Amino acid sequence: MGVAAERWRERQSARGIPEHILRHAPADPWTHHAPDFAPPQVPADTPSHRAARTLAERAAALGCGGASVLDVGCGGGDAAFGAAWPEPSPVSRVVGTDRQADMLAVFAGAARARGIPHGTVHGSWPDAAPRAGRHDVVVCHHVLHNVVDLPPFLAALTAAARGTGGVVVEMLPEHPMAWLDPLWVRFHDLHRPPSATADDAVAVLGEELGITPEVHRWERERRLPHDAAWVARRLCLPAARVPEVEAALAGTPPRRTDAVTLAWSP
Ligand SMILES: C[S@@+](CC[C@H](N)C(=O)[O-])C[C@H]1O[C@@H](n2cnc3c(N)ncnc32)[C@H](O)[C@@H]1O
Repeated sequence: MGVAAERWRERQSARGIPEHILRHAPADPWTHHAPDFAPPQVPADTPSHRAARTLAERAAALGCGGASVLDVGCGGGDAAFGAAWPEPSPVSRVVGTDRQADMLAVFAGAARARGIPHGTVHGSWPDAAPRAGRHDVVVCHHVLHNVVDLPPFLAALTAAARGTGGVVVEMLPEHPMAWLDPLWVRFHDLHRPPSATADDAVAVLGEELGITPEVHRWERERRLPHDAAWVARRLCLPAARVPEVEAALAGTPPRRTDAVTLAWSP
């Protein structure tokens, strides 16, 4: 494993929650709540959606049946449906893959509501890759910071894209929970080392796969702040401590709003 992949592994491993804290967690601090990921009716106009749309248009122009889009770690499918918007769409089929089955139910419901032919593959990437098949466009938004062993994950994304298509990854410049690091110190005396960054991911792509992606840095719309109960669960704290978390949040800088789009062709 190269230097960049090792750095990614170390930094991501350091995001784990120590066993003595996890043991007392009243609820699973990791699981995402599927309804939170229902895609908006009208997708945001973002660099990632535009990049995937451009790839889909190119593939549809070269073929005769429209483009297929694979969404890895799809959640409710915001990435895939963003590529299919607006009509007339170059996307003829979307496939969502996710390790949480309830996310796939949200994805399938959203595809049905939009009248887009779809498929789902339940499983963890890259193990699920053989069942997902190859597609014109592969999108993967806000998943890399869940991954420790990045080279096989990225290699499988690249291999899933047909030669005429490409891959679009969206991520935050640092771990999405890095903004909570001061609260880990305050509530658990847990000092975390620096987060893996989008630059680290770009370095892994170059080192392991010889790929230099297009990199686009941009500002997202600020989202509603997570409430104190949500943060308490992430911090493995019981409901009784939500008021303390609320007070601590008042003095904590909010999560950064910048995002990064990486795009490449196989
Ligand atoms: C933060 S959510 C992002 C969902 C969606 N891509 C979006 O941008 O709205 C991360 C999603 O990736 C899924 N996930 C994380 N690691 C995964 C893996 N190795 N294989 C498949 N799904 C994964 C999670 O279950 C979750 O649905």
